[in-house]
Amino acid sequence: MKRARVIGTGSYLPERVMTNADIEQLVETSDEWIRDRTGIRERRIAAEGETTCDLAEKAARRALKAAGVAPRDIDLIVIGTTTADQIFPSTACLLQARLGIHGPAAFDVQAVCTGFIYALSVADQFIRTGAATTALVIGAETMSRIIDWKDRDTCVLFGDGAGAVVLRADTKPGILSTHLHADGKHAGLLQVPGGISGGYEDGRDPYLRMQGSEVFKMAVTTLSRIVDETLEANGLSREDIDWLIPHQANNRILAATARKLRLPMERVINTVAEHGNTSAASVPMALDVGVRDGRIERGQLLLLEAFGGGFTWGSALIRY
Ligand code: UT7
Repeated sequence: MKRARVIGTGSYLPERVMTNADIEQLVETSDEWIRDRTGIRERRIAAEGETTCDLAEKAARRALKAAGVAPRDIDLIVIGTTTADQIFPSTACLLQARLGIHGPAAFDVQAVCTGFIYALSVADQFIRTGAATTALVIGAETMSRIIDWKDRDTCVLFGDGAGAVVLRADTKPGILSTHLHADGKHAGLLQVPGGISGGYEDGRDPYLRMQGSEVFKMAVTTLSRIVDETLEANGLSREDIDWLIPHQANNRILAATARKLRLPMERVINTVAEHGNTSAASVPMALDVGVRDGRIERGQLLLLEAFGGGFTWGSALIRY
């Protein structure tokens, strides 16, 4: 059976840095509270007119370059995003045109912060079944566009960015397994109530709303369970993991998952301080950071995990 190997990674952060001091000018908060409760020091914000597809394109081109792959070799594009450029076409189709690719499947996956793990899992299935050979998988978000900048419960947490990987079919793994879950009964705890099926003028709230402490508790317990599920499915133990690459929502959630794995924090790729929570972009951006600074080496075992709105949650175990 064919397996999917990660042959290149890339990421892109918008230029504009928004520090905690900048946010102190917008809402009643403090740098101390934000750093203490979340670990975030700053986040990047897309420039006026800069879209999710713009960020995705830059990350994708970097991943293609790292992989030594030309756009014409790509036969599948999957983008995890909640902040698509348009209602349609999908951001993946917009990106496909920009890359000059014509014909192969391209689509978005919407699983909020778990979007990249979902996208990676879908692409992995395509490669395992022989339906695709070389896939571009991206997590890209402009969360700043769906944030209510007067709501201190949420505006301190999120940022913009994009991360990408190129997967190629190989006889040896690669992606060992992926595990996806969802439970829609918790939808109200983390959501953007507004949408389109009620019409443009239905008056529903267009901004992200979260009951933070409820989400926090669910995230910690759920991620702890998925770590066990992933290891058990592969007959591996905690000691086998070289790097934890978690969704970068909050330092305290990262630390809880690391404790569960008995991994020292030095074995966790942690970009919370500089990136904030970039939803579907956070895991592939953290992966790219770890690869490019030389911490992640070929042959190592990587555990990727995420939790987000839906609720959705998932993991991927990768022999890099
Ligand atoms: O990516 C998808 C998944 N998302 C997450 O995983 C996020 C999960 N949740 C969290 O990370 C945390 O719950 C938060 C960082 C959002 C909040 O931290 P917390 O320790 O759960 O705080 P809390 O919501 O219980 O609020 C504690 C206090 C409250 O004041 P009182 O009621 O104790 O007087 C809040 O009003 O902190 C107050 N507060 C703030 N204070 C200063 C809430 N937001 C702020 C703020 N600045 N920005």
